[in-house]
Amino acid sequence: MTGGGDCPGLNAAIRAVVRKGAREYGMDFVGIRDGWRGMIEADGFPLTQDSVSGILTKGGTILGSSRTNPIKMEDGIRKVTDGFRKLGLDALIAIGGDDTLYVAAEMSKAGLKVIGIPKTIDNDLLGTERTVGFSTAFETVVDAIDKLHTTAESHHRVMILEVMGRHAGWIATLGGIAGGADLILIPERPFDLDEICDVIRKRHLKKKFTIVVVAEGATPKSGKVTTKSGEVDDFGHVALGGVANWLKKEIQDRTGFETRASILGHIQRGGTPNAEDRLLATRFGVKAAHLAHLGNFGMMVTLRDNKIETLPLDEAVKDRRVDDEWFDIAKTFFG
Ligand code: F6P
Repeated sequence: MTGGGDCPGLNAAIRAVVRKGAREYGMDFVGIRDGWRGMIEADGFPLTQDSVSGILTKGGTILGSSRTNPIKMEDGIRKVTDGFRKLGLDALIAIGGDDTLYVAAEMSKAGLKVIGIPKTIDNDLLGTERTVGFSTAFETVVDAIDKLHTTAESHHRVMILEVMGRHAGWIATLGGIAGGADLILIPERPFDLDEICDVIRKRHLKKKFTIVVVAEGATPKSGKVTTKSGEVDDFGHVALGGVANWLKKEIQDRTGFETRASILGHIQRGGTPNAEDRLLATRFGVKAAHLAHLGNFGMMVTLRDNKIETLPLDEAVKDRRVDDEWFDIAKTFFG
């Protein structure tokens, strides 16, 4: 099952689970459609070595995904358990981010045999140094910054790039460092607009253009997150987006420099997984099938010191925020 926002590398993980489990341990697999929704509605189909052949390089997920949250529903835990039984499952491998794996941890406490594989472009799960999907999204962001650089320089403009990252600014920070951003604004560090404008003014005495990378969840010191429409998902997250447009106006009005905003949006979640995501997803998938064979449930596979390890699900499913070590590197290049 894959749940939550999709990302590149999900199919590589599915393929690895099925190949390892079917080939080496003679397991049978059922693909659950659209995350927890499919589990509740017992909506599944057979996954064989043949049906996962050729999906390694394909973005998205052949299983489909949703943000359905059974914990919020009346009798949700029982509904999931019923679906699990109807489908004739012995165990579930849930591929997800903090929301999907939080439900997995709750289901594990309720007695379901679950193993988690961490994925999210946000890279914000405490238990693992990397999540499937981050590396490809990070490359997409760096590519976007490279492209903005050439046009920023030609037009002597301030260019603002908004990337995803609700609570954690990993994509903005690492993407910004690798892309040579002049300012990086992230949810973990509320920003001061006066300071930002000062940095830009000083920079334009020599350079005449500025690249600002902002995470969608970044806020001014005395303000709130910028939301799209007030739309809230099943896990209580309000849809974010538009901070770059707000910044564009503020920066242009205050500094007088021509400013443009680009919102990368779902482009950063799409496309073919890069080599690193294919490799990580494959290692995670193989390990998850092995754990199922051993009967080692209630665990999430993790990457630590470049080794694939395991951690109890409820210890792993916590937020990992950008720390000073990374942000200090980013700050060295501000201005
Ligand atoms: O999956 C996490 C994420 O990429 C967040 O960074 C972002 O806020 C959210 O997905 C957007 O999700 P949706 O696809 O529901 O618009």
